[in-house]
Amino acid sequence: MDFDGLVRVDVGLKEHGYPIYIGTDFLTRVGEMMKPFARSSKVFVITDNLVGALYLPMVKTSLEQAGFTVFDLVVPQGEASKSFDRAKELLERVLKTGCDRQSVVVALGGGVVGDLAGFCASLLLRGVDFIQIPTTLLAQTDSSVGGKTAVNTAVGKNLVGTFHQPKAVFIDVSTLKTLDPQQILAGFAEVVKYGLALNADFWNWLVDNGESVLVLDDTVLSYAVEQCCRIKTAVVEADEFEETGLRALLNYGHTIGHAIESVSGLRGSILHGEAVAIGSVLAAYLSADLGLCDAGLPDAVAQQYEKWGLPTRFDALKVSELMTAMHRDKKTTGSHLNFVLLEGIGSGVLVHDIEPNAVIKVLNEKGRKKNDFSYY
Ligand SMILES: NC(=O)c1ccc[n+]([C@@H]2O[C@H](COP(=O)([O-])OP(=O)(O)OC[C@H]3O[C@@H](n4cnc5c(N)ncnc54)[C@H](O)[C@@H]3O)[C@@H](O)[C@H]2O)c1
Repeated sequence: MDFDGLVRVDVGLKEHGYPIYIGTDFLTRVGEMMKPFARSSKVFVITDNLVGALYLPMVKTSLEQAGFTVFDLVVPQGEASKSFDRAKELLERVLKTGCDRQSVVVALGGGVVGDLAGFCASLLLRGVDFIQIPTTLLAQTDSSVGGKTAVNTAVGKNLVGTFHQPKAVFIDVSTLKTLDPQQILAGFAEVVKYGLALNADFWNWLVDNGESVLVLDDTVLSYAVEQCCRIKTAVVEADEFEETGLRALLNYGHTIGHAIESVSGLRGSILHGEAVAIGSVLAAYLSADLGLCDAGLPDAVAQQYEKWGLPTRFDALKVSELMTAMHRDKKTTGSHLNFVLLEGIGSGVLVHDIEPNAVIKVLNEKGRKKNDFSYY
């Protein structure tokens, strides 16, 4: 099905294929658009307090005008809402309201709401239909596509979750106009990741157009979101359950990024995308050190990141703590580390069994800021 003025990207999975619609200023008619994807008129919209204040009235009115009965569930904004406790509370509220196998759960918000709502949808009555309306750059280009859901535990982020593909994804890029610029930049780090690790043409396009994406030029922004969805879709189609190593390429920059996030979490805050930006640059240096790519590539990548305003180094973090965090991460095996590295721009490759000393060298020489005296 097509809708006027919206681009459609199809996720062609064997059993659970679905369309992604991308456009501007269409939330007032999202109710009508959702009709073909809903088997019941009962809809549970999960959102957070910030997004709810901005977009819930518009979405709810649109759904009600299209004949849906809408129940809204608002969680506090922020990563802390991605918890078992919050999921339990939502599940019980939905069940008390009266949910059946045909009911639909809609996620309206960023990646936190998407992961949490998807997790709940996958568990309710062993799985009910799920629709995503992502509202952050990260969610529109990454987390709303591919069917991964999660909550966090005390042991680590995203260690408990399910695969539950949505029935449809509705991406209105106009919603990004109300997003904090720091969040835009953090989401942009994931956009850039697609070019750097998976698609050289997209990287080159971003070198020319990245600044227009960052100021949210509608046309350029829509094109960037579409390309990210297309690149991620191709990867998910080929490796839905992360079995062949292809889907792991989407984690470029995340091994060091997750470590920076978890160690920084104790001292102050760094956004996920900011940590991924630093991790992406450092993974390029590691690639060159291991002889996988040209020696000049990492400096060129770092300069480009700096031009966009993305961070490339961490501040006052102990390398030993970063190494401990990397070893705790679910993507490591034994004492050696697994990394997505670069053979060139757009050519990511999953490499196993990397010597910790090679990583320590890069963290010390390229990761720390020049005046950082935090000890190893
Ligand atoms: N499932 C996946 O495949 C996948 C992939 C990448 C990341 N993630 C997860 O995504 C989460 C991060 O998502 P995020 O960066 O979107 O964070 P988020 O959902 O916390 O949103 C960031 C902030 O922006 C606010 N916000 C959202 N949309 C807004 C809008 N349009 N206008 C104004 N404010 C708005 C939110 O209330 C929140 O305060 C992490 O938990 C991460 O693990 C999941």
